[in-house]
Amino acid sequence: MAMSFCFRSALLLLLLLLVRTESRGRFEPKILMPTEKTKPVEQEEAAIGTRWAVLVAGSSGYGNYRHQADVCHAYQILRKGGLKEENIVVLMYDDIANHPLNPRPGTLINHPDGEDVYAGVPKDYTGHDVTAANFYAVLLGDKKAVKGGSGKVIASKPNDHIFVYYSDHGGPGVLGMPNTPHLYAADFIETLKKKHAAGTYREMVIYVEACESGSVFEGIMPKDLNIYVTTASNAQESSYGTYCPGMNPSPPSEYITCLGDLYSVAWMEDSETHNLKKETIKQQYQTVKMRTSNYNSYSEGSHVMEYGNNTIKAEKLYLYQGFDPATVNLPPNELPVKSPVGVVNQRDADLLFLWHMYRTSEDGSRKDEILKEITDQMRHRKHLDASVELIGMILFGPTTNVLNSVREPGLPLVDDWECLKSMVRVFETHCGSLTQYGMKHMRAFANVCNNGVSKELMEKASAAACGGYESRFMSHPSIVGYSA
Ligand SMILES: *[C@@H]1O[C@H](CO)[C@@H](O)[C@H](O)[C@H]1NC(C)=O
Repeated sequence: MAMSFCFRSALLLLLLLLVRTESRGRFEPKILMPTEKTKPVEQEEAAIGTRWAVLVAGSSGYGNYRHQADVCHAYQILRKGGLKEENIVVLMYDDIANHPLNPRPGTLINHPDGEDVYAGVPKDYTGHDVTAANFYAVLLGDKKAVKGGSGKVIASKPNDHIFVYYSDHGGPGVLGMPNTPHLYAADFIETLKKKHAAGTYREMVIYVEACESGSVFEGIMPKDLNIYVTTASNAQESSYGTYCPGMNPSPPSEYITCLGDLYSVAWMEDSETHNLKKETIKQQYQTVKMRTSNYNSYSEGSHVMEYGNNTIKAEKLYLYQGFDPATVNLPPNELPVKSPVGVVNQRDADLLFLWHMYRTSEDGSRKDEILKEITDQMRHRKHLDASVELIGMILFGPTTNVLNSVREPGLPLVDDWECLKSMVRVFETHCGSLTQYGMKHMRAFANVCNNGVSKELMEKASAAACGGYESRFMSHPSIVGYSA
């Protein structure tokens, strides 16, 4: 027994090179063939290919400060990691840094004590050029299809690694865009399939922060595209803004808007404080999951989910986010022992901002305007909620809960995505724009489709439910565009 154990150990030692990880005193076996030598850095980099990234902030308006702050922060992390500006494409509305309400003009911060993250961020696609169509074209490397902007695209090659990060509002099956129409899950997945078919990347990692972001991938994200995805929330829950006024920790007192989002700051603050040559994607996923759950208090936090090819998460983060030499002596990971932080769900963050603006405004007529804005928004929210409920009653009767029913995990939100879009358009025609808030009702429209309701019947129900509705200037799709 003892003999054979020693013999096997000796054999194993020929094949295993044990690398001691200083910080934790654990042994990490690395399998090398006896003849193989460690490669020089250049060769290693050549094998990795070029690192590319697409960063998208899907909103506009000062009340959504946090989404653009997230994206600018991500840009700084990637640049510190050695990614080149020419390989990072940024899509953001760019109306925050120089917004009249910004207390520190020309800058953005993503943490109460954070430094400016805005300086140096390229204005690839800003304002009206931040569209779902441009995002798809950028990802596909299709220079001809992009409209406006810098024309920068992901011109990746077969060996390359791509990192995609998106932050904004969402709803079942959709991610918001500052210019309608929104990003629909089926179109996004189709784009990923096309990119894969083109053979122009080796592996891709996608991080998504939005309400119900799991629904964008649930049941439709293939496992064979060499793509690994994590989302801030599952298919049925909100995601959360953080570093909000009046909460703990709160931003400097002159800020009346949230500075970041819970899942987003969780991955970025993790990346900044660890050696990404040692930390795996899986370790980051675990840390972010814990923090985004608000330390298992899920009441004010969400479930981080993963989709696609799970094998990829065994890889080191630096393949996607690069490596900042300043982190070389930092540990790969340590599970945070911290207390929950103050958060607000994405949809109420808008109201929180308006309310703080109302509270702090000293100019009487301005105060009246803000109050009107708050009441208009609340009225439109109630109108949307009531209309959807009424339509459900007309279509399915008073005692059912068809519109809210949730399909089993693993099933997509809807089978016919074109039907979903057409139902959204019918609703908006009669009831006004869904707006950022109304994206939460996407599941209702999906269930209208899943139950085989015809477009004609939906027209009738919407017209009946919203007949006589005074479409206000801001909320009619003829003004703001259809969200589908
Ligand atoms: C998942 O990714 C790994 C690593 O790139 C690859 O070897 C494997 O074939 C992929 N799985 C599928 C189902 O494509």
